[in-house]
Amino acid sequence: MYRLLFLSLLIASAATVLASEPENASLEQGARQLAQQFAGQLKPQLKKAMAAGGPTHAIEVCANIAPRIADSLTAQSGWLVRRVSLKSRNASRAQPDKWEQAVLQQFDQRQAAGEPAAAINYGETVNGRYRYMQAQGVEAICLTCHGENLSEPVRATLEQYYPDDWATGYNLGQVRGAISLSKHL
Ligand code: HEC
Repeated sequence: MYRLLFLSLLIASAATVLASEPENASLEQGARQLAQQFAGQLKPQLKKAMAAGGPTHAIEVCANIAPRIADSLTAQSGWLVRRVSLKSRNASRAQPDKWEQAVLQQFDQRQAAGEPAAAINYGETVNGRYRYMQAQGVEAICLTCHGENLSEPVRATLEQYYPDDWATGYNLGQVRGAISLSKHL
């Protein structure tokens, strides 16, 4: 009798696990697409602005456009969409919460251990929300505004827009930050 009860509990819990896995897989799929959409909208604009007016112009464009893209994706998608970093530039938007901080630290470790930033991501269900982060790696173009040796005009423009900027001193390949997505279940 007890054995039967135990067995049916076991089957029931196995069924829950099996049921939640495909669900998370489709959430992960949605998050992945959204992260790609964010980068796919921002990066071409950044490159265009750099080509058209140089890095100081591109800083002004980015200051305007990056928050707008985050907000419009949030409004369209039903996900909360933002960018975070352990060394934030936009102090009012990019500071990670506890969970994001821990994931970003993991990302740094994974990158240091040899994983390319583009392949680094993580998702899980936390307190009734599905949360997902995709690392953003430092490419050559990023060094102009996030690297070790900034030009004087870039430094001055950043200071004007972001007096609390921590987002410099990066090297190629490092994790600059992440796109962070969450959805209430
Ligand atoms: C022309 C200068 C410029 C270049 C080049 C640039 N960024 Fe930024 N970056 C900025 C500015 C300005 C912000 C703040 C935008 C805002 O207010 O949301 C920023 C913010 C970010 C953030 C959000 C977190 C934070 O600290 O505010 C990430 C992540 C990021 N950049 C990654 C990158 C990556 C990766 C590259 C290269 C592909 C790159 N950036 C290239 C200027 C630049």
